[in-house]
Amino acid sequence: MATFAWIMLISAATSVIFVGHTQSPSAPTEDHVGFPAGYRDSFKRLIAFDNWQNRQVRVIWANSIAATIQPSQPINFPYGSVLIFEDYPVQMDANGDPVLDGNGRFIPQDLRTIFVMRKEPGFGADYKDLRNGEWEYVSYLPDGSFATPPSGSFACAACHLNGGSAPVPSGGRHMNAENDFVFRTSLFFGNGNGALPKGTMQNYRYVPNIIHVQPGEMFTIYNDDDLMHNVVADDGTFASPTMTKGGSFTLKAGEPGTVINFHCSFHNRMRGTIVVDAPPQQ
Ligand code: HEC
Repeated sequence: MATFAWIMLISAATSVIFVGHTQSPSAPTEDHVGFPAGYRDSFKRLIAFDNWQNRQVRVIWANSIAATIQPSQPINFPYGSVLIFEDYPVQMDANGDPVLDGNGRFIPQDLRTIFVMRKEPGFGADYKDLRNGEWEYVSYLPDGSFATPPSGSFACAACHLNGGSAPVPSGGRHMNAENDFVFRTSLFFGNGNGALPKGTMQNYRYVPNIIHVQPGEMFTIYNDDDLMHNVVADDGTFASPTMTKGGSFTLKAGEPGTVINFHCSFHNRMRGTIVVDAPPQQ
């Protein structure tokens, strides 16, 4: 298993270098996207997502056309759709990790960048091999000037096509195609709250099976499975609503030493345990 993982890594790295030498990425030279002035008044705020990797809060907004999208597959946003994510750097501790507020959420600082994607008929042709549907991408600073101009937006297109900057491995698929190249649509539709996950539900299982938390900690469990599940305490202390894919449930931990067993009321072998640990010695 370990050997296999290493082979995959090495071959991905090699092909990145190879592609870099043989192709210069292509992108639009003019801004067809347009700075979405006034979006806070006219767009729908979909979700605030705590991005651990980038130490960011990403607040996702949809214009009224994009907000009509339904969770049916394959997802196909109507022409005229505009999606935005606002990038907020977050407050960090001495180790460079994000500080969590009393609700277990990142603490956003001042708005830094506004990332915009717009879908119109014929958009995206200039990306050539990296084209993803009919979207074009630009990012702006809050004053409306470019952060990433159209000519640099091939990187946006590449990642929204493949889910990363590396080329798709042979036999792989463009992972985002069935979602019209938009990420985390399950959170849009599944009522996920965008908090960091402390546990997930996958393949009829809670992962991890035993969740360790600190007294008073707010923690979130996501449904990453394709079926509906819930999180119900055996002793009746709590019961989540039914969650579809992308849905999440946030709980508050009690006193140290508390141990609560929980289950999914639809799947009798899905069982887990929450253990409230003693706070670390200072
Ligand atoms: C390395 C991968 C990557 C690159 C490069 C990238 N994005 Fe994204 N983008 C994401 C991911 C992943 C999300 C979902 C939120 C998250 O995971 O933080 C996202 C979300 C978005 C969204 C909200 C809609 C959605 O898909 O969820 C917009 C709008 C967006 N990106 C625009 C851009 C623009 C404009 C650029 C280039 C300036 C860009 N992105 C570059 C990965 C990328």
